[in-house]
Amino acid sequence: MTNVRHYVSTTPHSRGARTARIACCVASLFVLLAVSFSEATFAQRRTPRRPARRAAQPAIDYSKFSHSTEKHKQACNTCHKVPTKNWQKAGSFPDVADYPDHDACVSCHRRQFFRGARPPICTVCHTKVSPRDDARFTFRDPAALRQFTIEFPHDKHQDVIARRWKVAEPRALVEFRTAAFALKTASQDDKTKTYNNCAICHVAGATNPLTPAGGWIDSFSPDAATFKAVPTSHSSCFNCHWKSQSPVSSDCKGCHKLTTSYRAIASPMRISMKFRHAREQHVAECTTCHINITKASSLRGLKPDVPITSCTECHNKDGLRLDVSKELQAIDKNPAFVCVYCHTSDVGRRDPASSHYVIAGREPIKRSSIR
Ligand code: HEC
Ligand code: HEC
Ligand code: HEC
Ligand code: HEC
Ligand code: HEC
Ligand code: HEC
Ligand code: HEC
Ligand code: HEC
Ligand code: HEC
Repeated sequence: MTNVRHYVSTTPHSRGARTARIACCVASLFVLLAVSFSEATFAQRRTPRRPARRAAQPAIDYSKFSHSTEKHKQACNTCHKVPTKNWQKAGSFPDVADYPDHDACVSCHRRQFFRGARPPICTVCHTKVSPRDDARFTFRDPAALRQFTIEFPHDKHQDVIARRWKVAEPRALVEFRTAAFALKTASQDDKTKTYNNCAICHVAGATNPLTPAGGWIDSFSPDAATFKAVPTSHSSCFNCHWKSQSPVSSDCKGCHKLTTSYRAIASPMRISMKFRHAREQHVAECTTCHINITKASSLRGLKPDVPITSCTECHNKDGLRLDVSKELQAIDKNPAFVCVYCHTSDVGRRDPASSHYVIAGREPIKRSSIR
């Protein structure tokens, strides 16, 4: 992954100021705890017990924050202050580099903030729940789920990147631009032709991906070299999309679209999980396989963007290898056969895509029609 940053507690305050703030925070916690406690006892005396039916309702999980909750769908900068206080430590341009501060929540969540010894809501941002401990998860927590998809029209950027990425836009960003892009260009694979400049944003995966929530399918855990990383921060965009090129940096929704099909930030999804980009014979100009992406105005509905015809010349050629034909024949003999040369079993147990029969020179059939 590119740009996975690690900073846990990076508040820029002096030690004295921090101690004072914590003391103040603890004091107000106690005052508020006392108030809410007496309010609660008072309330208990007056109101009769709620009917049992209500207690059966699922409790709200205050340890998981959702951007889709109606009251959370406000302007992004009501919670995410731009830039955050730690930006100079975290990067080289004024960016969102930390969690929102308490002010963003307390106005509505006073009850959740000041109830109990270990309020679950603190764990949205903190590793430990204590009025004295300000240790936070790295921003972002790699185990967290992505609540947004990124709008990146590859088609519109094809020429632009080649033409403009050397042109400095805002003066303040010159340094950042050079740093971010020089780093990426340097780590490019030597053997890869870079005509399309894809590697500005997609370098070889550097760290092994995180195990998905339900574990790896078939216990097949792909290594870093399997993948190409995707951008994980603004440094891939803001040198152009700063103040003049739309979507500008303050137009958050121009690039971030709310989604409900959450997936872990560091757990990629694939059709052909076994395909490894780093294998010698697989290193080629990106668009020989990704034939659709440069024409794609959106990533939605793009799957698959790599057709199986880009594998045929090596994997299904007489006298060379017949990986697809052999697996199709195995299904002819045993309709329950699972194809695991390119896929994991979630895909390999389904009916073969009709494209597979086409490259094998056969009529598409369904498993259910085989006896
Ligand atoms: C009500 C407060 C609030 C508002 C409004 C808000 N956010 Fe967030 N955002 C948070 C909190 C808290 C987190 C950290 C918790 C988490 O990652 O689930 C977060 C995390 C994120 C993340 C990293 C995790 C992820 O889901 O990918 C992104 C990106 C993000 N916000 C973008 C936005 C954008 C864009 C908007 C406006 C459309 C927005 N946020 C509006 C509170 C808010
Ligand atoms: C404008 C009011 C408002 C603000 C500001 C706000 N919330 Fe909420 N939040 C709500 C409401 C309403 C709910 C629905 C559940 C409830 O009634 O408590 C909710 C629910 C939640 C939940 C339960 C899961 C979910 O998302 O539905 C969490 C966790 C949460 N908020 C955390 C936060 C955090 C952290 C912040 C600050 C970054 C924040 N909220 C800011 C109003 C708000
Ligand atoms: C939406 C994310 C978020 C939530 C939820 C949250 N915090 Fe924080 N917390 C922060 C951030 C960001 C800072 C750093 C603030 C700064 O730099 O001024 C911080 C700082 C602190 C500090 C250091 C003192 C200070 O104010 O700088 C303590 C102590 C603390 N939090 C405790 C808690 C406790 C206890 C809870 C739950 C009741 C909680 N936090 C909930 C984000 C959060
Ligand atoms: C300026 C940055 C940038 C450049 C240059 C770029 N991409 Fe992308 N690409 C992105 C972003 C952002 C995404 C969306 C990633 C996400 O889902 O968060 C993406 C997504 C993709 C995906 C889909 C990944 C998935 O989630 O399935 C493929 C494939 C891809 N790019 C290939 C290419 C190829 C091939 C090129 C060169 C022709 C290229 N990209 C050039 C930024 C870029
Ligand atoms: C030999 C064919 C081939 C070549 C060459 C190739 N790719 Fe891929 N790429 C694939 C396949 C296959 C997938 C997985 C698609 C799936 O199963 O969903 C993929 C997936 C991706 C993804 C999504 C993340 C991932 O790894 O799953 C990105 C981004 C990507 N490729 C970028 C590139 C870039 C940039 C280049 C050039 C440096 C490149 N690819 C060269 C075949 C290729
Ligand atoms: C080299 C400069 C450059 C970089 C880097 C760049 N863009 Fe762009 N982007 C442009 C230009 C120029 C356009 C307008 C192209 C057009 O309209 O033909 C554009 C258009 C867009 C649009 C479409 C806007 C619309 O009105 O349709 C989106 C969305 C976008 N970019 C997102 C991104 C994201 C996300 C990144 C980072 C992953 C990024 N861009 C990186 C220059 C850049
Ligand atoms: C030009 C496109 C673009 C604009 C405008 C934009 N973002 Fe992003 N943002 C991205 C991309 C691309 C990523 C990296 C992909 C990802 O991980 O979601 C990202 C990542 C983030 C993250 C995670 C940062 C990290 O370092 O892990 C947060 C938080 C975020 N954006 C919030 C915002 C907010 C708030 C705004 C508006 C003030 C905004 N973004 C405007 C494209 C954009
Ligand atoms: C230029 C030739 C070439 C192309 C094109 C090609 N491969 Fe390969 N691939 C190979 C070779 C050679 C091997 C090693 C075979 C062996 O020794 O067992 C291999 C191995 C594999 C393996 C086994 C895992 C590994 O890395 O050892 C998978 C899975 C695979 N390829 C998938 C694909 C897919 C999917 C495509 C199309 C998107 C593709 N390949 C395109 C030549 C190619
Ligand atoms: C040489 C690698 C390779 C082999 C072997 C292979 N596939 Fe595929 N498969 C691919 C590629 C690449 C795609 C995506 C492009 C496409 O759909 O043609 C794909 C797509 C699929 C899809 C569609 C998945 C989706 O979500 O769109 C299914 C289902 C599938 N294959 C099943 C099978 C079955 C069953 C077999 C065994 C007969 C098999 N495949 C053998 C490479 C392979």
